[in-house]
Parts: sequence; structure tokens; C-alpha cells
Amino acid sequence: MNNRMPLKIALAGCGRVADKHLKALNYLTNNNKKHGQRAELIALIDPVPQARQRILSGYGFSRDNIQEYDCLEDMFETNVNDSHMKPDIVAITTPSSQHYTQAKQALENDCHVFIEKPIAMQLEHAQELRLLAEQNYKKIVVGHIYRYFPVIGLVAQDIAQGMFGKPLYGTVSVRWGHDQTYYDQATWRGTREHDGGAIMNQSIHALDLMHWLLGEPELISAKGAISTQIHRIESEDLGFGIFEFADDRWLMLEGTTNTEPARPEASFFVRLTQGDVKAGISSGRISFSVFDSNGKQLKNRYIRREIFRRIKTEGFSYLLQMGNPHTAIYIDLIDSISNDRQPLADVVSGINSLKLVLALYQDAGVSYNH
Ligand SMILES: NC(=O)c1ccc[n+]([C@@H]2O[C@H](COP(=O)([O-])OP(=O)(O)OC[C@H]3O[C@@H](n4cnc5c(N)ncnc54)[C@H](O)[C@@H]3O)[C@@H](O)[C@H]2O)c1
Repeated sequence: MNNRMPLKIALAGCGRVADKHLKALNYLTNNNKKHGQRAELIALIDPVPQARQRILSGYGFSRDNIQEYDCLEDMFETNVNDSHMKPDIVAITTPSSQHYTQAKQALENDCHVFIEKPIAMQLEHAQELRLLAEQNYKKIVVGHIYRYFPVIGLVAQDIAQGMFGKPLYGTVSVRWGHDQTYYDQATWRGTREHDGGAIMNQSIHALDLMHWLLGEPELISAKGAISTQIHRIESEDLGFGIFEFADDRWLMLEGTTNTEPARPEASFFVRLTQGDVKAGISSGRISFSVFDSNGKQLKNRYIRREIFRRIKTEGFSYLLQMGNPHTAIYIDLIDSISNDRQPLADVVSGINSLKLVLALYQDAGVSYNH
């Protein structure tokens, strides 16, 4: 068993997505046969006390060990001389427009950061975070959950090693329906300044995944079209993008929140010179197929490989976590810190996906320079 001290985590933002972080932290807080305790939640930050209380009463963490703060400044000021109460990692799960300032604050206070997507809302801000992380020898991981879905990492590895030839193009549709109530939950939702619409918020995961599978080629040009069809929001609830990349690689995106909320779905297709990959998630159910150039279906081989590697690295207890990619993100971040390597959804993935979103918006005539 590993005898390293558990990394101390502060969670800024106690809303919807925080639940996924807490499920992950619960797993990493409990002793794992192979790894021991890897994380310890030490602080909750949210200006709304009820939001903090919901978490304190809901997840079985010991209240005695968790400090509460209204804002990150308070936490850093209070603990400036107390290394026991200084976090190693700040997880930022606040409205999107706050990611940049809070990540900057955390990096400047010598913490690693887990930033929910999007990494920032302006490219210059994302690039500044990259620089700051490099200067301070800190890691940034971005909440690009699709990279951490079962099997995807193995397929991406094989594509990168050339097993299926050269990636030619990809198509992706994200039909992540939300009704008006979703947007009315909080004033930041659906605004251009704080959130963005179906492209910046919902489709950025898919853009990240597709760009990764296509080999992270340089963006040459983007065509974009957006519309706000059925919701009372400032941003788009429907968008289309066509991206041309270096080396004649292409990507087409359809992203919307206009579809039936009870049946969210996303589907992905990547064509390579020696095979193709299809994946889908529909109402929580994941499907996929991988064919090689001889028409051989490799799906079951990948499932076996994924299960064996997870049991080998984590043990059987991890199998129940496979539906919560945030657990895999934390495991990756903690390991990247211990072994001084970049995590899978690194700062560059945050920058690249933001670049695609902003290029689509720009071609559609929307500026995101707030
Ligand atoms: N990776 C994913 O799967 C995923 C899923 C959903 C949301 N997200 C992202 O997570 C972020 C939060 O989304 P959400 O749905 O949880 O929003 P939410 O509105 O439910 O929660 C945001 C929380 O942040 C708190 N907050 C606001 N200002 C704060 C501050 N200065 N300091 C600390 N806390 C503050 C709010 O009080 C609220 O409790 C967004 O950027 C969103 O894009 C990611």
C-alpha cells in the first residue's frame, strides 16, 4: 500500500456538478487496498451557506475536519500561515465566468487546480493560466469527462499509435435537452457573459473528445451558425460547426439543448484510413463500436482490456465508479502530481476546446471578449 499523505482538497462551488466531485472524493477518501487514502476534503467555499450545508449533511464527510468559507480569498487569508489547512488542490465548480479568476488565485497560492469546463471564457485567460501553472510547477486538469469514459482512453491511445491509420474526419451530435426551468435555476445560466449556450456549455465536451481522437490537429478555419429557438436565454440553444484542421482533417458538430430533456444523447463517429470508431451515450447508456480495416469488430477486446486495467490499477471496488468519470479525473490528477506528468485532460485540452468554441462563435458573429 502507498504511504503518501492524502492530498488536501478545497471545493469552490457547491452546486449541481459538485455532487460528482463529492462522489469521487468519497471514493478517494476511503482507504483503497492498493493506494490507501488519496484525498481529504478540507474546505467548502460557497457564498450560499445552504449550499455548503447540503454537502455537509449529504456525503458522510466528517464536519469537524471541513472548514467553510464564503469565498476563496477568505480561505487563503485565513490559512496563510497554517500549512495543515492549506489545500494541495482547489476544485473549481463555480459558474464558468469565475473559473479564470479563481484558478489564477489558486495557482498563485501554490495549489494545483481541477477546473470544471470551460477552462475560461477567453483564450487569453486560458493561456495565462497555462503560463502560471508552468511557472509555479502546478498541474491543471479540466473537467472534460468524455476523455475519462470507459474504453475511450484505450481507443485514443491506439489511434495515436497509428493502429487505425490517419484520422480523416469526425461527426458529432450533442442533443442535450434542457427545459426553461434549467436555465431559470440561476441567473448566470444561458448568459453570454457567464455561461454561453449549447456550444460553450454542453458541446465543449464533445469538441474536446473529437479533437483529441483526431490527433489534436491545428485549427485552420471554422464555420459556425447559431440560433436561439425555443428558450428565453441570451445565448444559443442550437449551433452547428464545421472545422477544418491541418493535414486535411475535418469535424462537423451539431449541438443543441432543444431536444427532449428526458432523453439526452450524444453520438460520435470518427473515420480513419484503416478503421472507424462510433460511440454514443443515450439516457445514460453508453454504446460503442470499433472496426479495423478488415471489418473486424474490436469492441469486446476493448471492454476486456478496460476492465483488466482498472482492476489491476484500482481493484474491484473501482468498477462501481466507472459511471462517474470525475473519479477517474481525480485519480489522474493525483497521479500526475505524484509522477510529475501532465494529466489526460490537461491545460492544453482546455485551451484547444475553448479555441474551437470561440472560432465557431466568431464565425457566427458573436464576440466573447467580455
Ligand atoms: N464536467 C461536467 O460534467 C459538468 C457538468 C455540469 C456543470 N459543469 C460546469 O460546472 C460549473 C458549475 O455548474 P453547476 O451546474 O454546478 O452550477 P450551479 O449553479 O449549480 O453551482 C454553482 C455554485 O457555485 C456557487 N458560487 C457562485 N459564486 C461563487 C464564488 N465566488 N465562490 C464559490 N462559490 C460560488 C453558487 O452559489 C453555486 O452553489 C459550470 O462552469 C459548468 O459549466 C461541468
